[in-house]
This record gives sequence, C-alpha cells and structure tokens, in this order.
Amino acid sequence: MAIRNIRTNDDPILRKNSRKVEEIDRRTQILIDDMFDTMYDAGGVGLAAVQVGILKQVIVIDTDQPGERLVLINPEIIATEGENNTPEGCLSIPGKAGYVTRPDKVTVRAMDRDGNVYEKTGTGLLAKAFCHEIDHLSGVLYIDKVNKWINDEE
Ligand code: NI
Repeated sequence: MAIRNIRTNDDPILRKNSRKVEEIDRRTQILIDDMFDTMYDAGGVGLAAVQVGILKQVIVIDTDQPGERLVLINPEIIATEGENNTPEGCLSIPGKAGYVTRPDKVTVRAMDRDGNVYEKTGTGLLAKAFCHEIDHLSGVLYIDKVNKWINDEE
C-alpha cells in the first residue's frame, strides 16, 4: 500500500476520459488499496483513479458512514431524485470550495473490487460524492458547475 501523487489544477490528465476496466487483476487491487490510502491521507471522501494519473473507471468513496468503504468500478448513475445546492470541493483543486447543485438522491450501479455488480442509493453527501466522482471519469470537474464560490478568489 502506498500514497500516490494527486494530480491537481491544470494537469491535462484530469480532462481525459477514463476507460472501462476489462479485468480486475492484481494491479487493480493494488490501485484500489493505494487510492484508499491516498484519499484518507488527504482527508477526502472520494477519489477517482484519474486523480492519481490512472485513466481507469475506478472510484473509492468513504463519507464516514458506518461500514462504508465503497469501491465503484465502471459505475453508472441509474436514477436521481430531488436537488441540493451545497458546498463542494475536490482534492485535485486544493484550497477552493463552491456551491454545486446535485441531485439529493442518487442510485448507482457498479462492480465492487471482486467484480460483483451491485446497486446503491445514496442521499446528501453520498449522492454528491457519486455524482462528483463519476464526473471525473469523463474529465468533468466540479469547478465547471459551481454557481457560487465560497473563497472569494473567483
Ligand atoms: Ni474531485
């Protein structure tokens, strides 16, 4: 297990599309473990593989709900409900935060680290994390969607 370097700001890789994972092999397992280490070290609640320079559709999320340590491989959003305009940040955009409108309730379908397909519904912060991290897989950053910055840098 290791802490990987988080790509930030204008690093062009953050704007690229991530490829679907065809085979969950040993390298994928190491990547997932490293992503959890990296996310916890940085104090984040979610991380996409592209943020550590790997263009694969792998996401880890832990919003600190009991037992939650989610791995999402090749995820898709299959249902959304409601709306929330709440503050958001990103480990790849250090020192900033802004309000983004996201659905209040989001259901995803993904594979876990063993390749089992599952569905999970999240509300509030988890719903936001699902949307934010899945956006990363197509090169979309939350800064594209901010309607009000919290720091007055913008
Ligand atoms: Ni992010």
